[in-house]
Amino acid sequence: MIETQVRDYRDADEASWLRCRVLGFLDTSYFDDVWRAHPESSPGWSLVSRLGDQVIGICEASPAAHGATIDTIVVHPDHRRTGLASALLDELFHRLEQSDIRQVDAWTRDDQGTLAWYRVCGFEVRYRYLHVFADGEAEMASAAAVSPGLHPRSGFFHADTQDVAVEADLRRRFSRVHACHRFVQDL
Ligand SMILES: CC(C)(COP(=O)(O)OP(=O)(O)OC[C@H]1O[C@@H](n2cnc3c(N)ncnc32)[C@H](O)[C@@H]1OP(=O)(O)O)[C@@H](O)C(=O)NCCC(=O)NCCS
Repeated sequence: MIETQVRDYRDADEASWLRCRVLGFLDTSYFDDVWRAHPESSPGWSLVSRLGDQVIGICEASPAAHGATIDTIVVHPDHRRTGLASALLDELFHRLEQSDIRQVDAWTRDDQGTLAWYRVCGFEVRYRYLHVFADGEAEMASAAAVSPGLHPRSGFFHADTQDVAVEADLRRRFSRVHACHRFVQDL
């Protein structure tokens, strides 16, 4: 484990935080989920791991009806498998327990390393549905009725199905389909 500092996000972290987020998602199914600013402060927890003055790990969570939801956990690709995400999660759990929160969940797609990390950290999958991206004229025509004069070129759909035949059909018709998993852990 490298010597890093976990602390609350500060406004001065923003540029480094954004770089860490973009680079951390680049080799994942969230590669195009790019933000250009840290979200306005909202109730919740915003933790960073820092090495020198650089943010190399991010953990964002917000209150939810059941307890709390992890919105983002990401580690800079040059610093993975050194315990950074686990250390961020430990600090988050410590904060949640202080707030008497007893359940935390997270929604994530089908990146094998990320799924493995959640399982190793004690989460279990309680729900799964599909994220379907339609790209180009043919996939859009397959996804939605075309309105006169409108020529849709891309679209993003949730398919709330547990039916393996429906999933197979969607995967045949669309080149980008992700399974989105709800991981849950009781604290
Ligand atoms: C998932 C992620 C946050 C893990 O961060 P990390 O700091 O590398 O994880 P840790 O070092 O705490 O890993 C702890 C354990 O989890 C497991 N693990 C972590 N990454 C793994 C991988 N890619 N493959 C298999 N197991 C993995 C291992 O058991 C690991 O222990 P080990 O390294 O001693 O074998 C990181 O890979 C990442 O940033 N992924 C992309 C972002 C993302 O998809 N986030 C989720 C959506 S918000």
